[in-house]
Amino acid sequence: MDNNITIFDTTLRDGEQSPGASLDIHEKVQIARQLALLNVDVIEAGFPVTSSGDFESVKRIAQEIRGVSVAGLARAVEKDIDSAAKALEKAEKPRIHIFLATSEIHRKYKLLKAKEEIIHLAVKGVTYARKFVDDVEFSPEDASRTELDFLIQVVEAVIDAGAKTVNIPDTVGYAIPDQYESLIRGLKENVKNIERAVISVHCHNDLGLAVANSLAAVKAGAQQIECTINGIGERAGNAALEEVVMAIKTRHDFYRCSTRIHTRELIATSKLVSTLTGLRVQRNKAIVGENAFAHQSGVHQDGVLKERTTYEIMSPEDVGHLKTKIVLGKLSGRHALKNRIRELGYELSEEEFERAFEEFKSIADKKKEIFDEDIEAIIGIEKMEVPTIFQLVSLSISCGPNVVPTAGVRLKLHDGRIVDNATIGDGPIDALFKAIDLSTGIPGKLRDYNIQAVTSGKDAMGEVHVRVDIDGKIIGGRAISTDIIEASAKAYLNTINKVAATDPKYTVYQQRVTGL
Ligand code: KIV
Ligand code: ZN
Repeated sequence: MDNNITIFDTTLRDGEQSPGASLDIHEKVQIARQLALLNVDVIEAGFPVTSSGDFESVKRIAQEIRGVSVAGLARAVEKDIDSAAKALEKAEKPRIHIFLATSEIHRKYKLLKAKEEIIHLAVKGVTYARKFVDDVEFSPEDASRTELDFLIQVVEAVIDAGAKTVNIPDTVGYAIPDQYESLIRGLKENVKNIERAVISVHCHNDLGLAVANSLAAVKAGAQQIECTINGIGERAGNAALEEVVMAIKTRHDFYRCSTRIHTRELIATSKLVSTLTGLRVQRNKAIVGENAFAHQSGVHQDGVLKERTTYEIMSPEDVGHLKTKIVLGKLSGRHALKNRIRELGYELSEEEFERAFEEFKSIADKKKEIFDEDIEAIIGIEKMEVPTIFQLVSLSISCGPNVVPTAGVRLKLHDGRIVDNATIGDGPIDALFKAIDLSTGIPGKLRDYNIQAVTSGKDAMGEVHVRVDIDGKIIGGRAISTDIIEASAKAYLNTINKVAATDPKYTVYQQRVTGL
């Protein structure tokens, strides 16, 4: 039978220690709810003694979250343990997590305490915590830099005192996988009462090895992994939950164990944590990065379209991505283009396709990414020039701190009339689009707005893509300008012009265009 690895999530405690991340109580509760959906086994909700905010968050999460253990961190002192116990009072499954540093460097410079005193304090702390809860975890901080014989003594003593989980932190991310694996093996073989406790690992990423070290420890028999969503945490962060979980799942043949994580919730959880902490996920981040399932090379695109497993070891749906993303650009081949054209709903003859492919290649040489609107243009749908029924003459925007965003636009109609309108909005773009709606009488609902630089430097050209819902139809529009507000207005007008020129509802404009 498979061994189950307990997933201890510390996004709300160690993760929140990331420089730049700070969460309020509502945000922490939101993340805790999502972690429960993800089905983590333990949520470390905070360090209650450190602030009233942390105390309240742990308390709220302990009250609300069911079916998951909720842990509160404490130093090995009564004041901290009292605070954690109080915050966890209403938890269905409370856990008190006590830590005390054991390495020589910490004993000598930080704690100014001898080995015997460390053991005494650790035992006292665990014994005291057991008065409140059954589930006590102990962490010898900086364990990976602690002398092995001393670490063995500490671990044995805290298990005797009632610790149910002993965590072996690589606090400063110093360990190397082989060495960390031996450390865990060494503890398994030499701590006499080790069978009475779960061995946990907690790895920091200072050398980029947090996930590798955690997995090496699993090989040596560790039964719990402490990790965070997106790998956020103190300094370079902690082991990324999504990476350890997917490594265990994907390489089941090697690890022969599993977790209870609902992996389809990984993307949603990653997005929530990134939005609420403001810590953006790099595009190429394993599992949850935007590029994690995107294929750019033509050879890879061809392979994936023929058989996904040629270049994908996991399915994007399994982690919550919608599907494999084929990025069309200069490296793409015929197969990828043909596929996207079909997805857009067009069928081309071989001859038409070859012409489209030629043009696609020449545009792809000049442009980083080819969007759907470009493809539509290439295959001729857009070659019937969009008549300029409404033309932008000028615009003005006023926005900034303490200013209600206001936009004014002047449009020229095809019959030469000038229309002026101004309005306020939720932001400058919202105000601008509302002013355009007023001027054209064709209201649209913005569904998607995307801006990217198409050249580099301060005077980069901004390319704006919009998708607008007009009368229930989604219309794409695009425009380029060094002024991104102007590009936005033109992209939006582009969609309105398409509708005005083709939809029978707006024949009044079409008559003007054709002069009827
Ligand atoms: O990195 C560390 O040692 C910790 C402990 C509190 C477990 O975060
Ligand atoms: Zn840590």
